[in-house]
Amino acid sequence: MEYYFAPLEGITGWIYRSAHAKYFPGLDRYYTPFIAANQTHKMKTREKKDVAPANNALYNCIPQVLTKVPEDFVYSVRVLSEMGYTEVNLNLGCPVPTVTTKGKGSAMLGNTDALDRFFDRTFELMESEHLSTGISVKSRIGVSSTDEAIPIYEVFNRYPIREVIVHPRTTKEMYQGETHRDVYEEIRRMSKHPLCYNGNIVKPSDMDAFPHERAVMIGRGLLRNPALVREIQGGPALTPDELFAFFREVQKGYEEEMYGEAPVLAKMKELWWYAGDLFPGADRALKKIKKAKSISEYEMAVNRLKEGLPL
Ligand SMILES: Cc1cc2nc3c(=O)[nH]c(=O)nc-3n(C[C@H](O)[C@H](O)[C@H](O)COP(=O)(O)O)c2cc1C
Repeated sequence: MEYYFAPLEGITGWIYRSAHAKYFPGLDRYYTPFIAANQTHKMKTREKKDVAPANNALYNCIPQVLTKVPEDFVYSVRVLSEMGYTEVNLNLGCPVPTVTTKGKGSAMLGNTDALDRFFDRTFELMESEHLSTGISVKSRIGVSSTDEAIPIYEVFNRYPIREVIVHPRTTKEMYQGETHRDVYEEIRRMSKHPLCYNGNIVKPSDMDAFPHERAVMIGRGLLRNPALVREIQGGPALTPDELFAFFREVQKGYEEEMYGEAPVLAKMKELWWYAGDLFPGADRALKKIKKAKSISEYEMAVNRLKEGLPL
């Protein structure tokens, strides 16, 4: 079984990924949050840093690209392959309106003819440019109904996609509720591609439902408990000291990278928002973290949590 760290825009950038790989080694892949490819063919400074090979040396990194234009996609693939990447992931899953209203991300699943044309042109360009980079996709199972699933995966079946990561929810369902495991099983029966399951794996027992899966991708479960994969593999449980040291390292990385306290504080608060429920009964300390107005207030609140309760 392989374990992938899901891309989480605004959270799992290279600073977070590097610290995670150092403190909790053992994941097979880390996916970058999406890089938005456009006609200017210029990556933002933040995106360049996020995929710079030197910043991703500790782990197997797969860059993810968001676009609906085959020419822009293949351009990004070429640039990334020149950096040394052998696989690029296409985002067909993003449900956020700022993305879908532009026809990108999971909106591309809404028109299977257009999706077919996208892949047809993409693989034609890849061939004419002699690009052998693997193309994987991260997809949902429809826009508004699970009935859309099979026709979408029939389109994928026509192309030499290296792997399909399936988040079995529709766009409309965003990230809430149960995933459609029955639809995933249907896809498994008809898909020609290696599949990876993604969605709602937050504790080791959640893996009981996937005894023979070849790969799973985990997002929020790893934000909550960064040692989740180690625990799934039968390793030791997360200790408070490890979590504090890991967060300290992430904070240090942000302090070196960002200007001023406010953005660092916002990033750290977001991490605690996910990890907070590892500390049941520590509501007061967690509230203080949430309300901290400066790094020193934040650190005082974290110290209060440290002195408090075991995990
Ligand atoms: C804050 C946030 C940001 C995300 N950013 C991305 C992204 O950049 N690319 C992507 O493919 N998925 C993105 N996702 C989706 C996750 O990768 C993942 O598919 C989703 O959280 C479901 O998996 P989980 O239940 O294990 O978290 C994001 C999700 C969240 C909550």
